[in-house]
Amino acid sequence: MIRIILIGYMGAGKTTVGKALAAELGVTFYDLDWYITMRYRKSVPEIFAERGEEGFRDLEQRMLHEVAEFENVVVSCGGGTPCFFDNMDYMNSLADTIYLKAKPEVLAQHLRMGKGKRPLLEGKSPEELEDYIREMLVSREPFYNQAKHTIDVSLLDTESKIRDSVTLIREMLKI
Ligand code: S3P
Repeated sequence: MIRIILIGYMGAGKTTVGKALAAELGVTFYDLDWYITMRYRKSVPEIFAERGEEGFRDLEQRMLHEVAEFENVVVSCGGGTPCFFDNMDYMNSLADTIYLKAKPEVLAQHLRMGKGKRPLLEGKSPEELEDYIREMLVSREPFYNQAKHTIDVSLLDTESKIRDSVTLIREMLKI
């Protein structure tokens, strides 16, 4: 049975790599933010606006408990998921957890390339963005580092680089 959860900061490539990995393995892919959006019929920014970050974290934990019990799945969670409640221990107890680790410059560049709206990054200039990422990583990395596995991710700007990350994960997990 395959159950893999990808964790890491916003812009690490969790969704991009997760989708490609699931496709290669022939299992279902779930993005936790997408799952929350489908279940609550509201976007993540709308949930933040209505319930605040605390309200979002409650829903996020509840939805994590739904998707993390599915079998034969690759799940990508939100950048903050591992850092609240006992979510990291919970994920480690059920799944192969993988930290997609990338440098702040790479994260910032992915975030600039991406189209997704992130309420925590709203209104930041490019310089502010990189500083904010650096600061946030200091408090978040102790959680991310609890993943069972880590892979280093560099700029994912081509299909072949995405495939390389998938191959690396498959070799690491021997699947
Ligand atoms: C968050 C990351 C987002 C989303 C929310 C909060 C975070 O997910 O869950 O905006 O706290 O890092 P992605 O990592 O998929 O962008």
